[in-house]
Amino acid sequence: MSRQFRIAPSILSANFAKLGQEVTDVVASGADIIHFDVMDNHYVPNLTIGPLVCESLRPVTTAIIDVHLMVKPVDRIIPDFAKAGANIITFHPEASEHIDRTLSLIRESGCKAGLVFNPATSLNYLDHVMDKIDMILLMSVNPGFGGQKFIPETLNKIRAARQRIDASGRDIWLEVDGGVKVDNIADVARAGADVFVAGSAIFGAARDTDPHRYDTVVAALRAELDKVA
Ligand code: DX5
Ligand code: ZN
Repeated sequence: MSRQFRIAPSILSANFAKLGQEVTDVVASGADIIHFDVMDNHYVPNLTIGPLVCESLRPVTTAIIDVHLMVKPVDRIIPDFAKAGANIITFHPEASEHIDRTLSLIRESGCKAGLVFNPATSLNYLDHVMDKIDMILLMSVNPGFGGQKFIPETLNKIRAARQRIDASGRDIWLEVDGGVKVDNIADVARAGADVFVAGSAIFGAARDTDPHRYDTVVAALRAELDKVA
């Protein structure tokens, strides 16, 4: 059975002064999903963007908007992102008092729901909620910043998460986030991932100098994935 691979540029590394154009360009380059990193300067040390920016981007693209919440507490911001046009909302279990309740809240708001695992967070959080999740997001760096180095131990965790998904028989996407580049995306896919977040690898490429800046790197990522499929 061949998996469908999806490329999800993280706009964390985009040029915020022209975010709409960045999203248009990267989707035109063949990206499938817009990965939207929300940081609160509390759960993680950085501070980024919120529902108002999501709302502004919604009319710019029909691509899936995948909101990664690095926010604590998490529940109260979820309805705002749903109203702002998010398609998928994921959160870190450490940031929720009641994980089952937060997952239900996301789905009741009309979005797909997912759990995010930091490098040292146990997959056991999945034990009693597999029927309530649509996506598992594995961090391959510690959350908070773009441009960090991929932690190789994540490959074992991807394999373990893939086993859990296959055993569940459900169509749960397995997304990997952090340090994904042309030179390691095939290994990440072979381990079992099917959604690939790439921030600096895509938006760091010849930004502002080359009109086809994103086409080249998205095509290179896709070519690596074609070797796996
Ligand atoms: C980190 C974010 C990532 C990050 C990925 O906390 O969740 O999405 O932007 O950036 P790169 O691909 O540069 O590691
Ligand atoms: Zn992210």
